[in-house]
Order: sequence, then C-alpha cells, then structure tokens
Amino acid sequence: MPPLSVVILAAGQGKRMNSDLPKVLQPLAGRPLLQHVIDTAHSLDPESIYVVYGFGGGQVQAALGDETVDWVLQSEQLGTGHAVMQAMPLIPADHTVLVLYGDVPMIEAATLRQLLRTSQDGGLLALLTLEIPDPTGYGRIIRNAQAQVSAIIEERDATPEQRKVTEINTGVMAAPAGEFRNWLLDIGRSNDQQEYLLTDAVGIAVKAGKAVGAVAASSAAEVLGVNDKVQLAQVEANYRQTQARALMLAGATLADPARIDIRGRVTVGRDVFIDVNAVLIGEVHLGSGVKIGPNCVISNAQIGAATEVHANSIIDQAVVGENCRIGPFARLRPDAVLQADVHIGNFVEVKNAQIGANSKANHLAYVGDATVGSGVNIGAGCVTVNYDGANKWPTVIDDGAFVGSGSMLVAPVRIGAGSNVGAGSTITAGTADGKLTLGRSRQVTIESWQRPRKYSDAQKKEIIDKAIKK
Ligand code: UD1
Ligand code: CA
Repeated sequence: MPPLSVVILAAGQGKRMNSDLPKVLQPLAGRPLLQHVIDTAHSLDPESIYVVYGFGGGQVQAALGDETVDWVLQSEQLGTGHAVMQAMPLIPADHTVLVLYGDVPMIEAATLRQLLRTSQDGGLLALLTLEIPDPTGYGRIIRNAQAQVSAIIEERDATPEQRKVTEINTGVMAAPAGEFRNWLLDIGRSNDQQEYLLTDAVGIAVKAGKAVGAVAASSAAEVLGVNDKVQLAQVEANYRQTQARALMLAGATLADPARIDIRGRVTVGRDVFIDVNAVLIGEVHLGSGVKIGPNCVISNAQIGAATEVHANSIIDQAVVGENCRIGPFARLRPDAVLQADVHIGNFVEVKNAQIGANSKANHLAYVGDATVGSGVNIGAGCVTVNYDGANKWPTVIDDGAFVGSGSMLVAPVRIGAGSNVGAGSTITAGTADGKLTLGRSRQVTIESWQRPRKYSDAQKKEIIDKAIKK
C-alpha cells in the first residue's frame, strides 16, 4: 500500500458562525472541532498530517500547538481546491492523499479506511458520499447514464434539476498524490463564489478518463458538516447520544439517556448509576457501583467504587476514594484527594486537600490547603483560614482529631492527633495530641443587665451624636 498523507482543511473563517472564534476552534464536546479530526487522522497512522490554516491562524495554532502535525499556511482563502494545493508540493507523488475537513468532526476511522482501500486498490479518486433526505447546502454528486460519478456541483452553482439530487458530497476524498496534483492545477474560478473549488477536481479527473469511486458513509451523523451554530448543536447532540449509548453498553444505567451531557471521555466500572442532568467533562472515571445523583457536574475526576455523589455536587480535578459519600451540594475543587469512606456533606468546599480514610466534614465547611488524617471529624461551619491576604498557608489535622463546629483554624497550624477543638474556637497555634483546646472567650452572665427600653426621637439623637462624634 502507498504511504498516506492526510490534508485537513481548516483555513476558512466560517462566516456562517457569526463568531470571533475561527470555525475549526468551535468546541464539540469541549474540544475544538479540528482536534476531533486530527485525532481521527492520527488513528490511521499516516506518514504526515498537514493542517491547512489561515483565518485566525495564530489562534488555531496556539489552541492545537501540541499536535504533531505539519502546519501549512493558506494566506488567502481562495477556496477548498486552493487550500489543498498549498499542501501538495510537500506530498510525494507516490503517496495516497486523504482530504479531511476541519468542520466535519465526527468522521469515523473505519469509514476512512474503506475509502482508502477503494482509492488504493484501483488507483482511483475515491469520494465519500451519502444519500440524505435533505441535501440543502451540500455539493451534489452528479452521475452519468451508466450511474458513474461524473462531477460534483455546489448547491449555488446547481440547476434546479441538479438540486433535486439527494446524494451529497461529504467533502472527504482520497486519491493518488501525483495525479491529484495535476487535476488540482486545472481547477479554475468560474463559479458563483469565484473560488478554486476542490469539488471541480472530480469533473477534471473524469474528463482525463479517470474512473471515480464512491463510498457511502455509514451515517448522516458521521459526515455532518458544521457551518453554523445550528449544525454545531446537532453534532453536539449526536456526540452526546453516541457517548450515552457507549456508557450504557459498558453497563451504566442512565436515568434518562437524553439528559446526560458528556463532553469528554468517560469510563465506567460495572453497575454505575447516573441520574438526570449529569454533566461529565474531560477525562472522568466512575468506579463500579458508583451512583451519581441529579444535577452533578464532574470534570476530570476519578470516583472510587461504591461511592455515592448526591444531587447538585460539583467535582473538578479531584480524586475520590471508594465508598465515599459526597453531597448533596458539595464542591470538590482541584487537587482534592479523598481516601476511602470519606463523607463530604452539604455546602462543604474542599480544595487542594488530602483527606484520610473515614474522615467527615458533613456541613458548611471550607477545607483548603490541608492535610487531614483518618478518622477526623470536622464540625459544621469550620474553616481552614488559609489566606492572610497575601499568602496561602497549610493546615494539618492529624488522625482522630475532632474539630468542634464553628472553629477557625488559622494556618499555618497543626491540630494534634486525637485532640478536640472546642466549638467556636479560633485556633492560631498548634494543639496538643489528645487534649481539649479552646480558643474562645469565656461565657459570662451580666447580673446588672436590663432589657433596652424605647427611647424618644430626641433621646435617640443625643445617644447617636455622642456615639459617632469624632
Ligand atoms: C464543502 C464542499 C461541498 C460539501 C461540503 C461538505 C467544496 C467546494 N464544497 O462545502 O461539496 O458538500 O463541504 O461539508 O469543497 N477551507 C479552507 N480554505 C478555503 C476554504 C475553505 O481551508 O479557502 C476549509 C474550511 O475551513 C472548512 C472546509 O475547507 O473546514 C470546507 O469549507 P466550507 O466553506 O465549509 O465548504 P462547504 O460550503 O461546507
Ligand atoms: Ca462546511
């Protein structure tokens, strides 16, 4: 088989998006459209991937800078044929060229392999086409009396008769590089857009006596081109559906497959249950038996087996051990690492903190920049006071400590193992192991106290003037 060079067209502005963000950077499942296409291209193991960029070029390169692709600048966007031409001088004549579109993100590797086989077996120009009920906006595949492909006509250049054709050009094609280059050189600009249209290469190849192969795409979803926000929402919905289905096939129970939003790669163990309106972003792993309550947002996190995340919890870049209870209304922020059997309850925020096994913070607390041992109880309303206005400081709470409700732990500070902090304490120095520490004023009763009485306006004025004069 000839070596493979992939050309991805990504230079267009995407006028129909009405957006300052270049079209190929519009997000699908949280990643740029172009990223999806590059990932698929990589899976074909090509010798090179050329990304033709142009509009918003700096932005595009910056967003995908880590990619091992060759960037080819199309400084003026003169059409898809012109775009491919920018890469052709770099591609050896004995390669197969595969053209992908940066705005056709759901294209599947298996389909592309079939297209490549068709091109490579017969030395053909091979097109990926599809019969769809509504071909509006797409180039139409024109076939001759023998049903052989003879041309592609863009919608705006098509006659009313040609517009009735429902077999469309997906844009994706493969061809032997040497010949492909010659056909591209013959493309002119005499069309409605006055652009060099890649699609004209088909008619030119046919005139040169070349047979053109057509391979049918496996679904309309796979080849949906994203030109505006409506189509962007469509591919997003398709992506969601595909992911939801994959999760169910992997054994997860979804309360409603239409109400889960997966914007990344989610893996699950056995018997996972996910309630409605979960938003799962980035790399997420849910261990066996995990239960996710309604309205949870989980991004880039690992959740250990048998852990339950109750309604309305937010977990971001955190690792949760096995058999934990999180929420409802809990927030785990980046670098929260929880061991097994930890309970984090409602309105508790945990940031950059390691929490040992069996520890609990069940109500209204902030645990940040902290190392918490095992078997620790952090009472309602406790705060690790980690910020002095200029610096962040750590708090260490040793195994078995009990921090009474409403305590402020002014960091840097250590709470001793097995010690108790009396409720309402402000702790500014470390506490001794196994002892009770109180950091609060003593309770007093004022014997002479009397309830306030109602004052006249004049009396009030006198009191106020006295109190607030400088
Ligand atoms: C194109 C096809 C059409 C097909 C449809 C499938 C052409 C002429 N038409 O139409 O037959 O049905 O895709 O989705 O090819 N681009 C560049 N440089 C340019 C112009 C475009 O890199 O000068 C890139 C765009 O960024 C985009 C891709 O090429 O990723 C396609 O361009 P677009 O303008 O979206 O073409 P369509 O009108 O969708
Ligand atoms: Ca398009």
